Amino acid sequence: MSDSSRRMTEQEYDAAELAYADSRSLVTAEAEGDERAVEAALRPRTLDEVIGQERVREQLSLVLQAARHRQAVPDHVLLAGPPGLGKTTLAMIIAAEMSSPLRLTSGPAITHAGDLAAILSGMNDGDVLFVDEIHRMSRPAEEMLYMAMEDFRVDVVIGKGPGATAIPLEIPPFTLVGATTRAGLLPSPLRDRFGFTAHLEFYEPDDLELIVRRSAGLLGVDFTGEGAAEIASRSRGTPRIANRLLRRVRDYAQVRADGTVTLDLAHRALDLYEVDRSGLDRLDRSVLDALCRRFAGGPVGVSTLAVAVGEERETVEEVAEPFLVRMGMLARTPRGRVATPAAWEHLGLAVPADAAFGLAQPDLFADEDEGRG
Ligand SMILES: Nc1ncnc2c1ncn2[C@@H]1O[C@H](COP(=O)(O)OP(=O)(O)O)[C@@H](O)[C@H]1O
Ligand SMILES: [Mg+2]
Repeated sequence: MSDSSRRMTEQEYDAAELAYADSRSLVTAEAEGDERAVEAALRPRTLDEVIGQERVREQLSLVLQAARHRQAVPDHVLLAGPPGLGKTTLAMIIAAEMSSPLRLTSGPAITHAGDLAAILSGMNDGDVLFVDEIHRMSRPAEEMLYMAMEDFRVDVVIGKGPGATAIPLEIPPFTLVGATTRAGLLPSPLRDRFGFTAHLEFYEPDDLELIVRRSAGLLGVDFTGEGAAEIASRSRGTPRIANRLLRRVRDYAQVRADGTVTLDLAHRALDLYEVDRSGLDRLDRSVLDALCRRFAGGPVGVSTLAVAVGEERETVEEVAEPFLVRMGMLARTPRGRVATPAAWEHLGLAVPADAAFGLAQPDLFADEDEGRG
C-alpha cells in the first residue's frame, strides 16, 4: 500500500491542499502559504456560526437533526461550489455537529483503489470521511467508493489476472462528505449516491461584511463599519478573499496608521495592493486592457491574449477569466474572447460603436471550463 493510504492528519491535509494553491495574486480563491493556519482560526465551528448560505445551512441542519433523531449516520453529503466559499468548513462542521471523528483525504491522494480500501478499512461506526476535490479520484477508486457508499462493503482484489480473488470487506456505517469545485465532472453514479448536495453560492455583500466583521473581531483588528464594507465589496463574493484582504489592510493600518481600519484606510491599502473597486487585480485588468486597447475588444484567441499580457494561457483561462465572465466584462465565444461594454466602462474608456461585442454569445464554454456549482 502506498504512503497516501494512511489517514492524513489535518496538518498533512493542509500541506497537500497547499500544493495546489496558486500564489500569484491576492485575489485567488485558493488558499496559499501560511494562510491555512490563519484560516483554521477563522473557521466557524458550528452551523450557527456560519454566515450566509441560509438555504444550505437550513437543509444541512435538517439532514443532521433527522439523523440524530433516528440515531443513524447522516446521508452522504456533496458540497459543490467554487473555491473559498466554505466547503472544508462545512465538512468539519458536519463532523462536529454529529460529535463524530473526521477523517480527511483528497481525490488526488487516492490514486489506487487500494488507497481507498486502506482508509475505509480503518473507519469506525459513524465516522465522517471528508474527500476534498473528489472529482480528482482515480476511476477504480471511484468504483470502489460507489459500493462502499451504498452497501457499506467493498471488494478488495488481491493479485492480478486469472488468479486474482476478490475479498469482501464490511465497512461500518459512515458518512461520506465530498467536496468539489466541479460537480459537472463527477460521474453520475457517484453523484447519485449522495443523499444531499449542497450548492454553495457566492456571498452577498452584506454577508461578506458580516464575515469581515467577525474575522476582524477574532483577529483583534479595530475597524469602522465603512472600512469593513469596503473590504467586503472588493472580495469577489468569497470569504477566503475577504479574510485575506482584511489581513493585508490590517498590516497597512498597523504600519501606516493607528491600526484602525477605516474607509479611507481600506481604500489606500487596497489601492496599494492593486485590488480595485470591483475586486479586479492587476492580471484581470491587464487582460481587459489588452483585449480593449490592443485587440479593439476582440474577438481574440485566448493564447494570443495570454502572450499579450505575458502570462501562461492556463493562468489567463483559470485565474482571470472566470471572474471577468462572472462580472459580465468578458465573453468567451467560438471565435475568441470579446470585451463587453462593461469592460470598456470599467477601464474608463468610451465604448466603441463598432466593437465586436454584438457578436458575443453566451458563455458557451463556462460549464466545461469552470464546472458547475
Ligand atoms: N459562511 C462562512 N462564514 C464565515 N467564514 C467563512 C464562511 N465560509 C467560509 N469562511 C471562511 O473562509 C475560509 C475558506 O473557507 P473553506 O471552507 O476553506 O473554503 P473551501 O473549502 O470551499 O475552499 C475559511 O477560513 C473560513 O473562515
Ligand atoms: Mg477546501
